[in-house]
Amino acid sequence: MTTTHPNLVFSGMQPTNTLHLGNYLGALRNWVKMQDQMPCIYCVVDMHAITQDSGYGHAKDLSQSTREVTAAYIASGVDPARSILFNQSQVAAHAELAWVLNCVGRLGWLDRMTQFKEKSGKHKERSSVGLYTYPVLMAADILVYKATHVPVGEDQRQHLELARDIAQKFNNDFDAPDFFPLPEPVIMGTATRVMSLRDGTKKMSKTDESDYSRINLTDDADAIAQKIKKAKTDPNPLPDSEKGLEGRPEAENLINIFAALAEEPREKTIAHFAGQTFSVFKNEFAELAVEKLTPIAAEMRRLLADKAEIDRILKAGAEKAHAIAAPIMADVKKLVGFVG
Ligand code: TRP
Repeated sequence: MTTTHPNLVFSGMQPTNTLHLGNYLGALRNWVKMQDQMPCIYCVVDMHAITQDSGYGHAKDLSQSTREVTAAYIASGVDPARSILFNQSQVAAHAELAWVLNCVGRLGWLDRMTQFKEKSGKHKERSSVGLYTYPVLMAADILVYKATHVPVGEDQRQHLELARDIAQKFNNDFDAPDFFPLPEPVIMGTATRVMSLRDGTKKMSKTDESDYSRINLTDDADAIAQKIKKAKTDPNPLPDSEKGLEGRPEAENLINIFAALAEEPREKTIAHFAGQTFSVFKNEFAELAVEKLTPIAAEMRRLLADKAEIDRILKAGAEKAHAIAAPIMADVKKLVGFVG
């Protein structure tokens, strides 16, 4: 018997620091578009944020970041009237299901997770247990709603595969074929993979020590223009073909970002700037970036001025999320054999 599960999107982002252009072009903009295709649940994963020092023990910063990320979602176009928008810790079913799934997943599976190896670095024994079991909580985030589609970056593909393995094993072990759907990754394109403005081979990242490496969603027009002006380039004029970008990571990155912001195919951007100097390109680039990004920053500021309103939105979202998760969690408990 195969039941088809109704389409449902789930995705989340950690509330650590402010978001940058990579989060916007690589993730948020896709989330916004998916709202036209399927029902969507978007979560600020504050429970994941405490798995590492950056979130752990910083109560004030964490709550501030949660509100900021929420504001960024909304300012980018996530519509709380259409989609469910909430923070993870307000819906207890995530933690409840995570426990059960901790007992489904195998140590051997988690031992293979490359992101844990990267994040724990040289001192694995000093990492939190939560960091180790992070992918299981992520599986619970998705499965507690029986979500079918999960837009994520390439770096989350392995975690998604783990979620599928856990779902499959749960279905087998508890003799409930098709209880959980096997969630599909919707991998966001490499065309919108945004790299550092200081090094075209490194991802734009909130942890890079140089603020000039990234454009934050909260940057004002001056900061955006300055960062673009200072962005690393190479000595040659811009090429007239895709091929001409080979081996020129900085040129490629800037062209990619321009095309993504302009919402035009890359070939068009290349044709437009063929043979031009970087300084001509950068002027137009700065103008475009300011035009596209400053309204988001302004909207974020407006939203953040009224924390109570953001908290109300999160609470209303959490209630809707709870309403979906509660009956699924009740079925899980029955399947497992928990009384009550
Ligand atoms: N681990 C994801 C990331 O770092 C964030 C995340 C947590 C997530 N739970 C999720 C993404 C569930 C998609 C679905 O990007």
